[in-house]
Amino acid sequence: MSSAPIIFSGVGKTYPMYHHFTGGIKNFLFNLPEALRSLRSSRFEALRDVSFEVAKGETLGIVGGNGAGKSTLLGLAAGVLRPTTGAVKVSGRISPLLELGAGFHRDLTGLENIMLNGVLLGLTRAEVKERLAAIVEFSELGAFIDQPLRVYSNGMVARLGFSVAAHLDPDVMLIDEVLAVGDEEFQKKCLEKMREFKRKGVTMLFVSHSMPSVKLICDRVIWIADRRVHMSGAPAEVVRAYAGEGAGL
Ligand SMILES: Nc1ncnc2c1ncn2[C@@H]1O[C@H](COP(=O)(O)OP(=O)(O)OP(=O)(O)O)[C@@H](O)[C@H]1O
Ligand SMILES: [Mg+2]
Repeated sequence: MSSAPIIFSGVGKTYPMYHHFTGGIKNFLFNLPEALRSLRSSRFEALRDVSFEVAKGETLGIVGGNGAGKSTLLGLAAGVLRPTTGAVKVSGRISPLLELGAGFHRDLTGLENIMLNGVLLGLTRAEVKERLAAIVEFSELGAFIDQPLRVYSNGMVARLGFSVAAHLDPDVMLIDEVLAVGDEEFQKKCLEKMREFKRKGVTMLFVSHSMPSVKLICDRVIWIADRRVHMSGAPAEVVRAYAGEGAGL
């Protein structure tokens, strides 16, 4: 058995499709077996038979067009989604940065959100407090740290998210495109932090539409298209193929 921190074996994911009872609920009930069959069959397949492993300390990039299934894949790795078929195994403390503001509460201040997230991600209150100064400093949010999140800009929410995730001593870090809304200087700082994680042996999954960042940070890249791993290999090679013939697939 492989001991890789992230293992996807034959993973498929389907989502239910929203359905209208065109014939009305009465018609639905009178033709129940057929109606149920049609309900069951109307599922959207986002991923099919996806298998890969990420070795300890490796950074795997995931590229693909809008709707290719990248966020679905990260959601499966984070355990917030269940695979329909196959198995997902992720070991160690996971620090997920899934989408902008996920896990944050709009009416709590930045500081309160840091505490909440730290505890939700498995740290004790004392451990979060120890890291508080470093998190606030990294975020560069200044006095806004005492303001409720609803007054934050998108970039400020991303700053807070990355700062929290980066200070939790993760074994596995999952990053979904949140850097895109940060300004140039903050993106650089995040990439630098990710490099530091690499040196410390943190395992990372990095979803991005920024090909320069992917080439800079990843050890290997998979390209998701047509629900599957369309290509897997060295970053320069996969990015060249994706950006050349495949953008938009
Ligand atoms: N909760 C859901 N219910 C139904 N369909 C969904 C759900 N979440 C995602 N999908 C569908 O699954 C497919 C993959 O979506 P996903 O969000 O994983 O794509 P993505 O590669 O992250 O795209 P993007 O680059 O735009 O972020 C899309 O067709 C999307 O419509
Ligand atoms: Mg996405």
